Amino acid sequence: MKAKIIDGKALAAAVKQEAAQQVAQLKEKGITPCLAVVLVGEDPASQVYVRGKINDCAQCGIESRSIRLPEDVTQAELLAQVKQLAEDASVHGILVQLPLPAQIDEKTVIDAIPPEKDVDGFSPVNVGRMQIGEPCYLPCTPAGCIRMIESTGMEIAGKHAVVIGRSNIVGKPAAMLLLAKNATVTICHSRTQNLKGLCASADILVAAVGRAGFVTGEMVKPGAVVIDVGINRGADGKLHGDVDFDAAAEKAAWITPVPGGVGPMTRAMLMLNTVEAARRAAGV
Ligand code: GUN
Repeated sequence: MKAKIIDGKALAAAVKQEAAQQVAQLKEKGITPCLAVVLVGEDPASQVYVRGKINDCAQCGIESRSIRLPEDVTQAELLAQVKQLAEDASVHGILVQLPLPAQIDEKTVIDAIPPEKDVDGFSPVNVGRMQIGEPCYLPCTPAGCIRMIESTGMEIAGKHAVVIGRSNIVGKPAAMLLLAKNATVTICHSRTQNLKGLCASADILVAAVGRAGFVTGEMVKPGAVVIDVGINRGADGKLHGDVDFDAAAEKAAWITPVPGGVGPMTRAMLMLNTVEAARRAAGV
């Protein structure tokens, strides 16, 4: 293996340390940052993610509220819960874990979260602010990807960055953040022609497809930085990324593992957003 590993766990620990220091400073001013996490239903993966977020809060000294609602909750009930959290001045950040059950309209729920408490960075106001480079809450996964790329010491400006995937949560914002760092950005998706060729020309390759092993060794440019956002549960019960790790690691200069890569960084960035939300609410 040629590539060096971008250690998401170690980087996340450093980011959480940064968050914890800021929390300590806010507590001296009588402010305790608080994150409310709403989980609907019993999806096992979502339960694991939410538990992780609550644990991270505890590690950073952030207060958390865990709100569990049944799978068959109505849209009106969920919206009422979000409204209550929106009006609660002691809650600084609101996160509604996605995906939501079929009877719920995700967009309506996201729109109900006030932009100043939208620590996921999913609300249209925060998405718009990010596009034009105004202060906002950056979506946690793409923001974590940028930190991971920067941790390698590679200069992003001027590089060809290829993002595979165009979701609102990862692909699109990752592309925007890379553009903001002056990369030349290509967004690839299911209709892209010559996807392999484009990927093979990427200095920075971000895979957010949701298909295990989608990125093969031939799609990796020698010396590239490869960021694997995929979390796919295999038939073997294990977690696999979107990248064929062993093959890609033969060619890349740097690569993120799955698990232990992007996932922990996403959660760490959420802590920073929550601290920021508390700071802004208090005007300090
Ligand atoms: N589901 C998968 N990733 C995320 C995320 O970053 N935020 C929320 N709210 N739900 C998710």
